[in-house]
Amino acid sequence: MAVEGLLRLAVFASGQGTNLQALLDRSGDPAWGWQVVLVYSDRPGAPALARARQAGVPAITWRPASYPDRDSHERALVAALAAHRVAAVALAGYMRLLGPVLLAAYPGRILNIHPALLPAFRGLDAVGQALAAGVSVSGCTVHLVDAGMDTGPVVLQAAVPVLAGDDHERLAARIRVQEHRTYPLAVRWLARRLAPGKETS
Ligand code: GRF
Repeated sequence: MAVEGLLRLAVFASGQGTNLQALLDRSGDPAWGWQVVLVYSDRPGAPALARARQAGVPAITWRPASYPDRDSHERALVAALAAHRVAAVALAGYMRLLGPVLLAAYPGRILNIHPALLPAFRGLDAVGQALAAGVSVSGCTVHLVDAGMDTGPVVLQAAVPVLAGDDHERLAARIRVQEHRTYPLAVRWLARRLAPGKETS
């Protein structure tokens, strides 16, 4: 059911969708300020899709490889977003760099979450990068998306200690707990920023 006054949010996810779940759990709550109205996955088997369906949210999945190029895939996505009157997008473990078509359609309206304290450890396996570097603190970052890989303006970060004896699984799990706390706070910030009557640029 559509709730007036809430940010109409799409979530893109390629994998497990635990961050998607954190957003679904608060969807439709005026205290948080958004409603997840569409979930997209570029991986038809992604568990994230089952989470969307379980929550009663429309979920679509297409194989990007079935499109001639990135622009045509993104044009199809922009049309789907428009059909669901999506106002902002949250990338939640979406393993694809966005191109100019999506970025132009949603300027300043796309968030991403990354499991490191950006600008440290951009790109793939940020948890492994942090362990290899021997840092004593890592964490997670929510940022606005630009054309780069994990490069846009930072919205919110949470620090997570790296403890003696940590392996990839333990550190990733500790960071994940903070991601699930941080992403909803960042989406609430965006919802307030984009609320009717506020400047959107
Ligand atoms: C998270 O660690 C996120 O920071 C990264 O991909 C992972 C997605 O996990 N971009 P999930 O699918 O939300 O469980």
